[in-house]
Amino acid sequence: MTQIAQPVPPTAQPFRRNLAIEVAGLVRTFQNGQQAVRAVDGVDLQVESGSIYALLGPNGAGKTTTINILTTLIPPTSGLARVGGFDVVKEAAQVRRIIGATFQETVVDKNLSGRDTLDTHGRLYHLPKSLIKSRIAELTKLVELEEAIDRATKTYSGGMKRRLELARGLMTQPQVLFLDEPTQGLDPHNRDRIWTYIRQLKAEQGLTILLTTHYMEEAEQLADRVGIIDYGKIVKSGTPEELIGALGEDVVTIFGSGDTGRLLASLRQQPFVDWASEYSTGETPGEDSLAKPVSPSIQVGLKEQAGKSLRPIVELAEQAGFKIADLSIKRPSLNDVFLKYTGRRLRD
Ligand SMILES: Nc1ncnc2c1ncn2[C@@H]1O[C@H](COP(=O)(O)OP(=O)(O)OP(=O)(O)O)[C@@H](O)[C@H]1O
Ligand SMILES: [Mg+2]
Repeated sequence: MTQIAQPVPPTAQPFRRNLAIEVAGLVRTFQNGQQAVRAVDGVDLQVESGSIYALLGPNGAGKTTTINILTTLIPPTSGLARVGGFDVVKEAAQVRRIIGATFQETVVDKNLSGRDTLDTHGRLYHLPKSLIKSRIAELTKLVELEEAIDRATKTYSGGMKRRLELARGLMTQPQVLFLDEPTQGLDPHNRDRIWTYIRQLKAEQGLTILLTTHYMEEAEQLADRVGIIDYGKIVKSGTPEELIGALGEDVVTIFGSGDTGRLLASLRQQPFVDWASEYSTGETPGEDSLAKPVSPSIQVGLKEQAGKSLRPIVELAEQAGFKIADLSIKRPSLNDVFLKYTGRRLRD
């Protein structure tokens, strides 16, 4: 957080209720030339104190806009949002006192050292000198930057910058932490590290965390509750288990060629089929693209009592004149949940 209106000391304001974040009917529109974009289009969500909530959605879904409203950077067009019981519009200063945030875009000053970055942030928030010193020591250890903390951040790798930003977001001992795409663009090793810190913050400090991601795996790994957001609306929310459970027992993926529409229609009529959708498995090849044309594929959610036999599906495909190139069956994932509720596949 670099924007702050008033110097405020850190406090341990008790929440008015057990909800750390409450959002109701939140709307935010932008005027893009002639077009009005409803970036956030009636979002409702509740995050219990001490839990992790993941807003999962594709590019342009409205995740950053939601975070920007909750961190008081921009006002909503309409609707209500409270953080720690405080209204993000009417009580913005109180909200800022209890939150920490990291943003999607790296904002560290490349000429400052890691230590100076954290120190500057602490002073911006008028933390006492001794507290700044002890927080820097603690947080540098948490995010494993002891070796690099006195180097200019321009010598840091992407993963190190992200870790430093996480430390900065934690300088003020927030009760609620907002992380906008905390692991975007990181390699698996750095991603795993960030995941470990996030889990630690929840387990050891009882922090409430709202994170945004377009990685299924991240939501599945970290979140107590997930809200799938698309076109500014939460299309489905629940625990990862609930969302996956809603898909039924197994998901069958069929690759091949032929009349997908006909096969889909006949699949949807089967008593053992819960849902069926089509998606394209790759980029549509452009004129000078090297990408090979890809065949469409179909995913089928089987009802729980369906059993493991793929035979009926093979027979249906034959009847529909669909040539199967590959057929697989697996436990559903959040990716399948996304596909079911948005009709699109979420790509990493
Ligand atoms: N300041 C702005 N002015 C105009 N349009 C905006 C502005 N900020 C966001 N938008 C539009 O609002 C929509 C939601 O954007 P937002 O950044 O919230 O999406 P996102 O879910 O964070 O996407 P990404 O995964 O790419 O970060 C997009 O259509 C975007 O173009
Ligand atoms: Mg974003």
